Amino acid sequence: MNLSLTDCTKSNLDTPALCIDLEAMESNIQSVMATCRQHGVEWRPHTKCHKSPVIAQKLIEAGAIGMTCAKLGEAEVMAAGGIRDLLIANLIVGDQKIARLVELRRIADPIVCIDHIDQAKPISAAMNKAGLKLRVILELNIGLDRVGVAPGDATLALAQQVAALPGIEFAGIMGYEGHLLQVADLSEKEKRIREALDILAENKSALETSGIPCPIVSCGGTGSYVFAVTHPGITELQAGGAIFMDDYYRNQCQVPDLGFALTVVATVVSRPAPERAIIDAGRKTMNPDLVMPRVLNCSGVTVSSLSAEHGSLLLDENSQSLKIGDRIELLPGYSDMTCVLHDHFFAFRGDRLDSIVPLAGRGKLQ
Ligand SMILES: Cc1ncc(COP(=O)(O)O)c(C=O)c1O
Repeated sequence: MNLSLTDCTKSNLDTPALCIDLEAMESNIQSVMATCRQHGVEWRPHTKCHKSPVIAQKLIEAGAIGMTCAKLGEAEVMAAGGIRDLLIANLIVGDQKIARLVELRRIADPIVCIDHIDQAKPISAAMNKAGLKLRVILELNIGLDRVGVAPGDATLALAQQVAALPGIEFAGIMGYEGHLLQVADLSEKEKRIREALDILAENKSALETSGIPCPIVSCGGTGSYVFAVTHPGITELQAGGAIFMDDYYRNQCQVPDLGFALTVVATVVSRPAPERAIIDAGRKTMNPDLVMPRVLNCSGVTVSSLSAEHGSLLLDENSQSLKIGDRIELLPGYSDMTCVLHDHFFAFRGDRLDSIVPLAGRGKLQ
């Protein structure tokens, strides 16, 4: 059956399908943007959750200054989609990538992270040779213990070296407080996040005292943006997944207010036992690692396990009328790792399919 866009609803759409509730997503975008405006902080949302220049353009229209990307390949996709101001919150290493970065700089205004002079020197040489200047920020280790130069003397020394390189414009610093998102006690969470973000604020001051301007101080994920946005010295937020929201952010990170905008629609394909139904959506459709998906449209029905392409539902005694062909709508536990499994979003406005949005940056891991 070939359905036109306007005929398509969640009841006749082929499944499994990753669906956006546009009204909920737009409301989340407005909400985060309003919070940023209220506190005089810019928003440069991370694209890793949606990987779509179409959604990025919506964010820019709402007031975002640019996008944050996890990979050079994602930034290339965003630039091809017309986004110029792109923070690649990652380290770019290797001749092939640097050659691509030079080409990206010709069509966009990216920023890349540095935590060692050995990343900066070849980028500087390539940009200088091409007659270009690239914005660079230092990534600081504010406790996540992933990448990042040590705050304090090491940061100052690296900033001085990087700022002196040709082909590079020193643009600021970033840090990610990702190790603190799940601290259970909220006042303890706020205290520890503020201690981590103080490191950024102190290093910004130290750089400026040494005569190195530090216009960008970037941090903040969905699980921490409510604190980061009010923290002195922070100039921009990277929070991205907030546009979709999910049970991981709501329950593990205790993020209030935002609405759920992303669901998976699946079909019951087998009823092997009264208390068991099988849907056509397994872990290749929904990532269950952080939190199991939750059934939205049938009370008494829970997801008991996921194998690759099958989802097993447990039905209580009042919910056993479910039959083969019925539609189940689920909330992915963690939207970010669920989106990367899909080629398209099916974007709904109310009941009607509004558009099919490709995840153009999906698989762009290099
Ligand atoms: C560098 C960086 N910034 C921000 C985030 C937060 O992203 P989100 O708001 O989508 O959870 C992450 C998450 O992994 C990250 O690695």
